[in-house]
Amino acid sequence: MEVDISKTYDELSRKAANVIADVLNAKPNAVLGMATGSSPLGLYQELVRMHREEGLNFSQVTTFNLDEYVGLPVTHKQSYHYFMHENFFKHVNIPRENIHIPSGTTRNYRAFCEWYESRIKSCGGIDVQILGIGSDGHIAFNEPTSSLTSRTRLKTLARPTIEDNARFFDRVEDVPIYAITMGVGTILEAQTLVLVANGKNKADAVAKMIEGPVTSMITASALQMHSDARVFIDEPAAGRLQMREYYEWVQAKKPGAPAT
Ligand code: GLP
Repeated sequence: MEVDISKTYDELSRKAANVIADVLNAKPNAVLGMATGSSPLGLYQELVRMHREEGLNFSQVTTFNLDEYVGLPVTHKQSYHYFMHENFFKHVNIPRENIHIPSGTTRNYRAFCEWYESRIKSCGGIDVQILGIGSDGHIAFNEPTSSLTSRTRLKTLARPTIEDNARFFDRVEDVPIYAITMGVGTILEAQTLVLVANGKNKADAVAKMIEGPVTSMITASALQMHSDARVFIDEPAAGRLQMREYYEWVQAKKPGAPAT
């Protein structure tokens, strides 16, 4: 795992966006895995800026989102469909038919999940998957004790997740109890993983993800099993890392390292 600690949220967002831009420049028809939540907002803003000012081209890109709440129509302001449209898709040139987001309103969740998995495969798999992390260490909506080989499926959200996400709804009772989410196994199949996290309230989850044991109690710890996982965090989110000095040393020495 590569751990990159930035002074500010803007800086970590820029660095994470650069990874995506490098993938797109090398492979214009890349398949991107998208995430929602407040953490990747800066990354999306930077990609939008690159699109507008530097001509970063998304015209051949295909996307797959990680997850969606069950029961919210796509027009609901807290649905992940709405979030992605407002914060990213409407600002760049990804063909509408190339955008995939799990359905929170399908009549047949099992069939939809199977289709989603097969669609990822038929598009060639995900080249780079963007991720955030929940304060309980989850990725997407893979709550603690989710199988580390899980695939796209319906999940019941944990209470801490519902309480965390209540800030976006009028009342905690309005937060959906169920979600459809890519599994940990699905996520681990992406070629590259880019996880962004900022703020003190993520410090505990971040430390457990990077330095704790691999456990389904912290589904983000599965990133330790991936051969190209890159984690971009700010200083408050790095607050509980024991090996911080080493990560900073590695970053400082990177320019002099032999090319691989
Ligand atoms: C939700 C999403 C996750 C996200 C997490 C953290 O649970 N399903 O994908 O990583 O929230 O969100 P935030 O970035 O707003 O802290």
